[in-house]
Amino acid sequence: MLLRHGERVFAYHNECPHAGRRLDWSPGRFLIDGGFLICAAHGATFGIETGRCFAGPCMGSALASVAVEVVDGEVRLAHAME
Ligand code: FES
Repeated sequence: MLLRHGERVFAYHNECPHAGRRLDWSPGRFLIDGGFLICAAHGATFGIETGRCFAGPCMGSALASVAVEVVDGEVRLAHAME
């Protein structure tokens, strides 16, 4: 999933670390409140910029992030430097 926060974009796998459920309540529809992403299954709350869990049954865990970059207004997978 891609989450835009201001001019920045953050990408995470759509899988909650609590019980492995999808975070959206309907395909492509997510609960966002006050800068936090809330899992629709049991209410775990994640920071949009870090993916870290702040409240709920996921404490101490985080979403699996995907490295992306914005180039000329397009979101692209970031290439790892070798
Ligand atoms: S699966 Fe997300 S809070 Fe339980």
